[in-house]
Amino acid sequence: MSRNTCRIINCLKTQTCVNFHSVYWLQSCQAVKRVRASPCIAHSLQRTCVSKPMPEEQRGVDPALYTPPAGVRGMTNLDREAFTWKVNIPALRFPKEATSKLMTSLKRVALQRPGLKRVVDDGADASYKLLLLDPVSVSSTDSFCNAETEALAKFGVPLELQPYELQLTYDNLKSEEVLRAVLPAGQDVTSGFSRVGHIAHLNLREHQLPFKNLIGQVIMDKNPGLTCVVNKTNTIDSTYRNFQMEVLAGDGNMVAKVRENGVVYEFDFSKVYWNPRLSTEHSRVVGLLQPGDTVLDIFAGVGPFAIPAARRGCRVLANDLNPESHRWLLHNCKLNKVDQKVQAFNLDGRAFIRGPLKEELLALLGGTATVHIVMNLPALALEFLDAFRGLLDQCQSPNTGSLPQVHCYGFSKQDDPHKDVMDRASASLGVPLEGRCSVHLVRNVAPNKEMMCVSFTLPNEVIFSSNSAEDGSPEEPAPKRQKCEDATD
Ligand SMILES: C[S@@+](CC[C@H](N)C(=O)[O-])C[C@H]1O[C@@H](n2cnc3c(N)ncnc32)[C@H](O)[C@@H]1O
Repeated sequence: MSRNTCRIINCLKTQTCVNFHSVYWLQSCQAVKRVRASPCIAHSLQRTCVSKPMPEEQRGVDPALYTPPAGVRGMTNLDREAFTWKVNIPALRFPKEATSKLMTSLKRVALQRPGLKRVVDDGADASYKLLLLDPVSVSSTDSFCNAETEALAKFGVPLELQPYELQLTYDNLKSEEVLRAVLPAGQDVTSGFSRVGHIAHLNLREHQLPFKNLIGQVIMDKNPGLTCVVNKTNTIDSTYRNFQMEVLAGDGNMVAKVRENGVVYEFDFSKVYWNPRLSTEHSRVVGLLQPGDTVLDIFAGVGPFAIPAARRGCRVLANDLNPESHRWLLHNCKLNKVDQKVQAFNLDGRAFIRGPLKEELLALLGGTATVHIVMNLPALALEFLDAFRGLLDQCQSPNTGSLPQVHCYGFSKQDDPHKDVMDRASASLGVPLEGRCSVHLVRNVAPNKEMMCVSFTLPNEVIFSSNSAEDGSPEEPAPKRQKCEDATD
């Protein structure tokens, strides 16, 4: 699969809230599928979707139609009243009793603006109504297809367009339309954001910063359920992978409640890592587990692998270095009633591997339960794999039972991200993984940056290696190995 195809698929799979251009792009993709499915639908879509997937100015439609008064340009404090103006649009006059049937037949050409009625009273005659039409789809009566013309005749509606003066307000605008009218002309208007419970999380660019509070307010107004909008103020390079953020609009409450794959999580979004775009990945990995398995989650965050795994009947050891993540992990275990099945630790990953994880492996290695080790810290996890070298003594090898399955994440900027993460995992483990691992593309994180997951059975020669990562030089005998040999000699 080409790098671009991977990206497109991942964009479709993982984007929760997308920007204006992507929305049209997605619509056109859906339209294409439907066109293939039905030649009849194809005709209508050619007018409603396929031929108009792009923003208005790019598809030859008068952009002034839905453009608020020029006076709003440059506004930094939101004045909603200033977004009021009138447009002339086509309408169909029809007998009141035909309303619902006509609406059903002509749904696709009726005006669709946020908050606008599509049918209004005809002021001149109470027994008639006016169906407001989308001027983009209907420029003249020729715009109607045969089926529509027939439907109009059937309901006694004259094929005649009436001019209608419509007052548009702030409420009838989409957020990108408001922002496009306010921000400097020609500059990019990003209305895309990630949503975490009641919090919208933006990543504004330099030219948008003078308008940041207005942008925050507009996003909040236009998205029901949002009560707080924040802007990221650093790149995500902190140890705990959380963002620095500033509140742009709303109550500033950072304690979010989200539901992912049927599990509820609560956490302080300003202090822990949470990414709504990982929900598919969490579900994919949890889908590999069987009741009775043991899961050892080294970088557990607030529990999006650990808690569903416990709910699936697995025993779980979950660790995170961030004391806040650890606190919310404990909270979420209780919230989801799995606190008896999850043991939580607040250790550095290496200390966890060499402590609780090792103890657990020693207890389980001779048994039948499958052990899964999850390592989701893509910036660093591949480098942590060396901690498994020589983790157990040869004399502790039970000769039965299966070795742990590792699911380790990594970012890649290479042309072949699959090979890149496999090679880096191999280097860290000290053994080649080629032919004995699978590599999964999780998502496209940024242009030329992929998040990958490499899964493999932890090789016998790694876990019982005589060269532990702690030993430094591979020439030196490992103290534990020595001890073991001493004991058996
Ligand atoms: C990318 S987040 C993943 C969290 C969670 N597993 C998820 O899928 O959402 C990585 C987590 O690793 C934790 N972390 C960072 N460095 C660590 C370390 N050295 N040892 C243990 N945890 C660490 C961070 O606090 C963060 O919660």
